[in-house]
Parts: sequence; structure tokens; C-alpha cells
Amino acid sequence: MDKPEVLIVGILPDWDLDALAKRFTLRLMYEAPDPMAFVRQHGPRIRAFVTKGEIGADAAMMDACPNLGVIACYGVGVDAIDLPAAKARGIPVTNTPDVLTEEVADLAFALLLAAARAVPEADRYVRSGDWAALGPMRLTTRVWGKRLGIVGLGRIGSAIARRAEAFRMPVSYSGRVKKDVPYAYYPTPAALAPNVDILVVSAQGGPTTRGLVDRAAFEALNPGVLFANVSRGTVLDEVALLDALRSGRIAAAGLDVFLNEPALDPEFLTFPNVVLSPHNASATVETRKDMGALMRANLDAHFAGKPLLTPVG
Ligand code: 8YV
Repeated sequence: MDKPEVLIVGILPDWDLDALAKRFTLRLMYEAPDPMAFVRQHGPRIRAFVTKGEIGADAAMMDACPNLGVIACYGVGVDAIDLPAAKARGIPVTNTPDVLTEEVADLAFALLLAAARAVPEADRYVRSGDWAALGPMRLTTRVWGKRLGIVGLGRIGSAIARRAEAFRMPVSYSGRVKKDVPYAYYPTPAALAPNVDILVVSAQGGPTTRGLVDRAAFEALNPGVLFANVSRGTVLDEVALLDALRSGRIAAAGLDVFLNEPALDPEFLTFPNVVLSPHNASATVETRKDMGALMRANLDAHFAGKPLLTPVG
């Protein structure tokens, strides 16, 4: 019997492609010079999409594939998938929650520590010979013990809070609802901002959080705060973030996500006190293997007619 055809929207590690190829005929959209023409060409036989958090899938792709039965996202964030369009067509969507939570929280702390302690600058200081030539590097600033504000205390935000406890940091958060946690709650980022020394954004992306960390929030930050974003560029007002960096209100920042990735606003490259990361928070071999396994398990469940493991919504 012919293997079902699956559209692979974005590049995946070989270990996933090899495992998928045993069960399915793979159509690699990301290799096509004209991706939409490729989708239309194979559309009638496509039974599933495998996509990624930052790429998603739009309604035109779904329309080109009348036999599409499932969209499996290799990532927890499904904001780039047109969920209303999928729902209207009765196409279930799956994602990869939980398996990447600790990894993303690790990178949030890695970025904060790197930015606050100027780790990239320190590395350059040693390699360039400045240490030997000029003596000790400038002093930096601490992370431990500072008041941490978390925008979005979901799975990832909670994992960041757990790490913060080990760093002896008082934690507060903003979110849609107050949770049963021993952290101070503020309804909005603007209300949270004046009460923290460090602000980390870990809210999910999508229409409900677009521009959530708004200009009022950036302007309410205490001068000299540290800032990190491991969620989506859409969750904040990027113009207001750039203003806060330019004015020095934010003393140092670590950013893993941006609007228009990978063509981020070039002004970000001009700040020596910003540590930049290429949307890498879940990008370890261990976690990516777990994400791939969960994405494939969802596909297997779908094709076996069993309940999906991690359906969205
Ligand atoms: C990945 C992500 O970058 O899980 C998410 O929402 O953004 C990331 O883990 C992505 O989905 C894999 O390319």
C-alpha cells in the first residue's frame, strides 16, 4: 500500500526525517523554489502537515490540500498556524508542550546571566588580549537576589520562577488570571514593571498577546533593569523596546525572539549590552529529539485513529 503523504513545511533534523520516511512519503516544502506551487502540486495527496513554531501554516496551504487530516507542530507555540482556518476545516492541530519547558527556562536564565554579567564581552576581552594589556574588565551587575517579574506564568514562566527561587529572587508575575502560587500578581505588564529589577517575557504568542508588553510597560520599568524575551517578538511593542534600549532604561537584555525573524531590526545589532540568540531556546539535541518524538507520536495516533496525545485547544 502507498504510504500517506506528509508535507514537511520547515527543515527538521535527519533523525526525524529518517523516522518519518519509514512511515510516510515526505514532501519537503522548504526545498521547493516556489513553496505554494509545490503545495498545490502535491496538495490532493497530502494527508498531514508537519510544521514548526515559527513557520506555522496558513489557510491557503490548507485549501490546497483537501485531504489534509492533521497539522502537527514541532514546537509548543502554534501562533503562526491559522487556528481558526484549521478549526473551520475540521483539521486538528497538535503541538509539543512540556518536553521543551525546562530548556526554554534554561535559556531565559542563560540570556539574563550572559547579559548581566557581560559574558560575550568577557569572552572577547580575554581573546583580544585586552585582559593582559589593560588589566581587569569593567564591573558588571548581578542577577541573583534581584526582583524578577515574569510576563506569562504558564509552563515556561513557572519553570523560570522555579529557577529564580534557587537564585533567591523574589518573583512576581502578570497574566490573564491570578494563580494559586506564592508570587505577587499584577494584571498587566505595565502594573508589574515598576515592581521588578528584571523583566522576562514568557507569554504565549498569538492574537491574545499581541503587543502585551506595551509602551506603557516599558516606560514603567525602573531605569537600569534587565530584560529577556523567550516567547515571541509579537508579544511586545518592539519599537518601545528599542526606545528603552536606546535610552538606557534597559541596562542589558537577552533576546531569543524578534519580529520578522530572521531579518530582525538591524538596530538590535548595535547595542553592545544586548545578547542576541537565533530563536534557539528549545534547540538542544536532547529536547529536539523529545519534540520530534512527540510530534511523530501525534502523527502515529492520528493515522491509527487513536486520540491525539497533545491536541491544541
Ligand atoms: C522552536 C518554538 O523554535 O516551541 C516553540 O514554540 O518556537 C520553538 O521550540 C520551533 O518550533 C522549532 O523550530
